[in-house]
Amino acid sequence: LDDALVLGIESSCDDTGVAVVRACDGAILGQALATQVDIHAPWGGVVPNLAMEAHAAAMDGTVAAALADAGVAAADLHAVAVTVGPGLALCLQVGVRKARQLAAEHALQLVPVHHMEAHALVARMGNPRLAFPFLCLLVSGGHNLLVVAEGVGRYSLLGATLDDAVGEAYDKSARLLGLPADPNGGAALEAFAAGGDPARFAFSPPLRGRGGCNFSYAGLKTAVRLAIEAEAPGPPTDANRQARADIAASFQRVAVAHLEERTRRAAGWAREAHPRLRHLVVSGGVAANALVRARLQAAAATHALELVAPLPALCTDNGAMADRDEEWVDVRPRWPLTDRCDPRSLPE
Ligand code: KG4
Ligand code: ZN
Repeated sequence: LDDALVLGIESSCDDTGVAVVRACDGAILGQALATQVDIHAPWGGVVPNLAMEAHAAAMDGTVAAALADAGVAAADLHAVAVTVGPGLALCLQVGVRKARQLAAEHALQLVPVHHMEAHALVARMGNPRLAFPFLCLLVSGGHNLLVVAEGVGRYSLLGATLDDAVGEAYDKSARLLGLPADPNGGAALEAFAAGGDPARFAFSPPLRGRGGCNFSYAGLKTAVRLAIEAEAPGPPTDANRQARADIAASFQRVAVAHLEERTRRAAGWAREAHPRLRHLVVSGGVAANALVRARLQAAAATHALELVAPLPALCTDNGAMADRDEEWVDVRPRWPLTDRCDPRSLPE
């Protein structure tokens, strides 16, 4: 089935993403994305009920648009892949229902997809040379993981966040700074920080002096709040704008340095444990950040690894993520990537 066509459906959070992918080489033949930016913006976060309704309203049209973009009919498909977890249960169910309906109607194979695994594996699209094993840093709004991907479905967890994910810290800090935080506080903060002095605030590096490859971002977020209260209180004004930009830039310097430090440690370990390992993949929404890419590039170079960063459009949630093989399971709103791997902690 060299030219088998897979329809991928992703609805785990606030984006309805659909893509048509050619199975043999992962080429994206067509895609469509419906975002819910305007729906959740007034609420300061994703509201599951509203998200579910928006997915339900957008699903049929988004599937039709992706098929039209690819120039194929549903009857031409061979399989339909769908994110089944982790994510918001109500939202996952909308995608799964559509996938089941299409599978039944056109006799398609149904392929369940792990959301974070998909973030890791989209890197292989457009990078055919990327071979297992590779080190992968997954950084999104809900996840902050370092894993060695040894094969499809085979992961060793090196570290995860003890509290907030880095994308969540960006989103919360953006909100505290009065920036448009939904759905992408990270991009807003990155742009705002460009006008700030990253050295002005000496926020403490998270988990300083602690070994391992875990992450922590709750303390840094609190430091940002305290700095705003001390140096730039009240609503954003022209008068406190520079102080806010300095806080944003200082936050970003420390947040990214923490990613870099943990990734360097993981890279050193992974190179010893897996002599054939040659690549560092960074994926998830935060991988769109230019400073993140630059610092990870430096970390990779130290350990003679090639950095692979999927195109920004593939780093965020998208329908092309849903493209891999496994037998059917039901929706799994809480599905740790480590369920299916051999968890291994690094010596402290
Ligand atoms: O992977 P993603 O689209 O959704 C999931 O969380 O699964 O990631 C979204 C996260 C948000 O927290 C957003 O603020 C962050 O990625 N993000 C960024 C940037 N673009 C998106 N963070 C920092 N800098 C960016 N340029
Ligand atoms: Zn995601």
